[in-house]
Amino acid sequence: MEFSTQTTASPHQIKTAALAAGVYADGQLSPAADVLDRAAGGRLRAIAKGEFRGRLGSTLVLRDLQGVATQRLVLVGLGKREEYDARAHASAEQAFAAYCVSARLTEGVSTLASNEVKGAASMRDRARAAAIAAGNATYHYDATLGKPDADARPKLRKIVQIVERADASAAQQGLKEGAAIAQGMMLAKTLGNLPANVCTPAYLGEQAKKLAREFKSIKVQVLEQKQIEALGMGSFLSVARGSYEPPRFIVLRHAGKAPAAKTKAKTPAGPVVLVGKGITFDSGGISIKPAANMDEMKFDMCGAASVLGTFRALAELDLPYEVIGLVASCENMPSGRANRPGDVVTSMSGQTIEILNTDAEGRLVLCDALTYAERFKPAAVIDIATLTGACVVALGSVNTGLFASDDELADALLAAGKQTLDPAWRMPLDDAYQEQLKSNFADIANIGGPKAGAVTAACFLSRFTKAYPWAHLDIAGTAWKSGNDKGSTGRPVPLLAQYLLNRA
Ligand code: BES
Ligand code: MN
Ligand code: ZN
Repeated sequence: MEFSTQTTASPHQIKTAALAAGVYADGQLSPAADVLDRAAGGRLRAIAKGEFRGRLGSTLVLRDLQGVATQRLVLVGLGKREEYDARAHASAEQAFAAYCVSARLTEGVSTLASNEVKGAASMRDRARAAAIAAGNATYHYDATLGKPDADARPKLRKIVQIVERADASAAQQGLKEGAAIAQGMMLAKTLGNLPANVCTPAYLGEQAKKLAREFKSIKVQVLEQKQIEALGMGSFLSVARGSYEPPRFIVLRHAGKAPAAKTKAKTPAGPVVLVGKGITFDSGGISIKPAANMDEMKFDMCGAASVLGTFRALAELDLPYEVIGLVASCENMPSGRANRPGDVVTSMSGQTIEILNTDAEGRLVLCDALTYAERFKPAAVIDIATLTGACVVALGSVNTGLFASDDELADALLAAGKQTLDPAWRMPLDDAYQEQLKSNFADIANIGGPKAGAVTAACFLSRFTKAYPWAHLDIAGTAWKSGNDKGSTGRPVPLLAQYLLNRA
């Protein structure tokens, strides 16, 4: 999708396939709709007061309206004026894009950007969020359909935003960022949605290599079994052993275009490292999961997908400093070689781990990736993982769970989430929870009992992150949707990309 801006005071003169104008729930017209109404001899006002209720995200299409040049005037409901905030604005833009997709149009023009938005969001933030929302309306999964319906593929290529001259450059910048983030989300979604017999650890490795071919700023290294053994990743490999599919450890590097010395002067502290959980299928292993909804454990690599998606976005935006991505990928399967409850394994850090439940495998693969991260002398390490069902119980599918050893890092991530409508909620990491991870037979147990499961999982990871400022995002509730809308959401690519943008 492409987004551009145009400045004009005469929206009624725009010749296009579809032009969007906002209407509030009480029938009040947005400023742009008001101009159009006058050009159309007051007909809009009558419709807005009558059959169109202005419910947020609803649309009504008027064709060949006298006095306006557009083929279709798309009235978009804005909801109550006093509740029209950045999120409502993004919903309205998404509704217009969704209409354009369903009408099989290639281009639309939106006047919604000139709506007054409640709250502190800047024009750049609003434009970015609007582009993310609109971009997402064009996502369509058909990779594994027997007969993909080419006609069902969205044709929408471009949305033009009408803005005031003073807003044009901020809007353009926000739209560009939003378009890149939407691209990253689409990659994350497709990887998440692909079934585990297609999206294997080797497949993720190939996708990372493909990114490196597409973008010059990205270099990638895909480590295989032997190389992972040489690194001493005994915890990660113990999970991988149970599966026929061989593991992969993916190292991505985005080099900022500025020369290294210059970048160093600006950010003395080293790169940000993103670490993704890449379990391509989580059966639970010997501690096997119940059958109901087990298919959804193909989404257990959504952390890894968000790392690849974020790299896609930041490469497209040519982010001017170094970012490292690490993905630890394998399957968690029951077999004669699988981990047994009670097994003790030695992690790359040297700490031994008693595996009391083989279904707590995410932390077993992440701990070795977190130890590997030390070699980059990072300014910050952020891991992203569909780590615990307990996090879904605590926060549902609204907020991602955020755990951090560093307040500044936590605040920056919370702010980035707010800014991109991809919110996170900070959770505790008190030392007192560490007691639950005591083992009689190893340095640490891999589960901490039924209480505070999301917290003890984070506490486990914290044992491996002493060398740098660290944050952990538990996306178990936010990475995908269940039920009729089953599918990957692309979260938290917006949060991560925005966090990186804000550092630049
Ligand atoms: N991938 C799951 C977490 C998960 C479960 C995410 C359901 C979304 C929905 C993770 O590997 C897991 O199985 N965690 C266990 C940990 C427990 C054994 C301590 C869980 O949450 O039940
Ligand atoms: Mn599991
Ligand atoms: Zn898992």
